[in-house]
Order: sequence, then structure tokens, then C-alpha cells
Amino acid sequence: MNIEWNAEKYTEDFSFVHQYGNDVADLIDLKTGSTVLDLGCGNGALTEQLKNKGFHVIGIDSSEELLNIARRNYSDTDFIKADATSFSLDESVDAVFSNAVFHWIDSDKQSSMLHCVYNVLRDNGQFVFEFGGQGNNALIHKGLEKAFLSYGYSYKMPFYFPSIGEYASLLENAGFKVRYAVLFDRPTVLKGEHGLRDWIDMFVKIPFRVVANPEDIENIKSMAVNELKPVLYKNGKWYADYVRIRMKAYKA
Ligand code: BEZ
Repeated sequence: MNIEWNAEKYTEDFSFVHQYGNDVADLIDLKTGSTVLDLGCGNGALTEQLKNKGFHVIGIDSSEELLNIARRNYSDTDFIKADATSFSLDESVDAVFSNAVFHWIDSDKQSSMLHCVYNVLRDNGQFVFEFGGQGNNALIHKGLEKAFLSYGYSYKMPFYFPSIGEYASLLENAGFKVRYAVLFDRPTVLKGEHGLRDWIDMFVKIPFRVVANPEDIENIKSMAVNELKPVLYKNGKWYADYVRIRMKAYKA
């Protein structure tokens, strides 16, 4: 996964990520007592929501830091450390759920991840997920790219934001039947007066690895924030230009 987490700050300041995930969980259409795997469960907040709906839940994540928070907050839930692109389970599950995770996985690893999901589902099991779709945060990434170029660096997008057509093909190639797909804009309010700067600090780490000089890092971030203020700062609030892809598929 293309991320280094600041797990405590993520849990405190970016809680909208799991709050929006509740709508995705509503796509799971199963009896209480069914087993649901939360893939990329992070701090476990949504795993707990799934449990509150009456499901038996298992959470998988690759971040020890986030799993520590999940285990501390929800000590009676089963959380497993594993990579989404190479995991397996001893039991099969009725549904796999995932929110705001797949954009962190490189495009060439998506098929391996879908293969793992397929293998862990029972026949006709449900796969319900949402993540960043085509055009997600396009304004922010354009602003960063421009600022990188101004200081003589090139900006490499670290995320995978596919269209519905592209992702439906990947799912079908992995053996799934796609039954629901939507791509929609969701402008999202960021917390605080420094909302965009905090968002960049939290989520855009890898592209800055090519910038050796700490002063350049600071200048690039400030320049991007200043350039984006006229479009992303409205009525005293910062917004991120989120676009979501939400889908439901079945193991054929
Ligand atoms: C997202 O949830 O769409 C997202 C969050 C941070 C970085 C990239 C994408």
C-alpha cells in the first residue's frame, strides 16, 4: 500500500472517511449473523458499525499502528494483520466490505487483490466497496503538480482512481458479476483553518520523497495551498474535491 500513516491524527481529524462509509455498508444485503470481512479496516470504526448491524465481523489491515487503535477500541473483534493483495482466511465469508482503501493499491496489484477477495467469498457472496474514482481530488493533484514543477521537480500521482468501465472489467475478469456501480462527486469539508494543508501532510507523502530540500517541501505545499484557495476555500471552509466509485458485485 502506498501510505505511511499518522494513525492517531487520522483517527482524530479525518473521521469523515468512516462516517461516509456507513452508506456503503447499507449495500450489504444479508441476514444478521452472516460473516463480513472489512478489508483495509484501519482503526476499526466501520468494522464496529458492521458489527452493530448484527454481522459477525473480521477486520484485515496492513498497518500495525491502525490495528493497535482498532484492538484498543474494540477488543472483542478479530483484527488480522495482512496485505490486501496477498491475504487468505481459513473460513469463507458471506461478504467482503471495503471503504476508502483500493486507491492506495497500485493498478498492477488490483487483480491480485480481487483474486484474494474472490477466494475468500462463499459462492454468491457479496463484494461491496467504495473508493476514489476517476477524477478524485483532480484539482488538488493539479495544484500540487504545478507547485512541484515551479520548484523543478516532477509530481508522480501515487493513487489509483479508475473509471467504472475499467473497474467493472477487472471485476469480471476476476470472476465477479457486477450488479451496481456509480461514480459521483462528493465535495468534502476538511477540518480547520488549515484543512487542505493538513490533508496534504496526511495523505500526500510519497511524491515528496523526490524533494531532498526541506525548504522546498514547505514552499511547494504553501504554493499549492495558496493556488487552490480561490477554488477550494468557500465561506470559511476548505473542501476536498472527492469523487467516489461505489460498486456491488457477486462471486459468480
Ligand atoms: C480518498 O479517500 O479518496 C483518498 C484519500 C486520501 C488520498 C487519496 C484518496
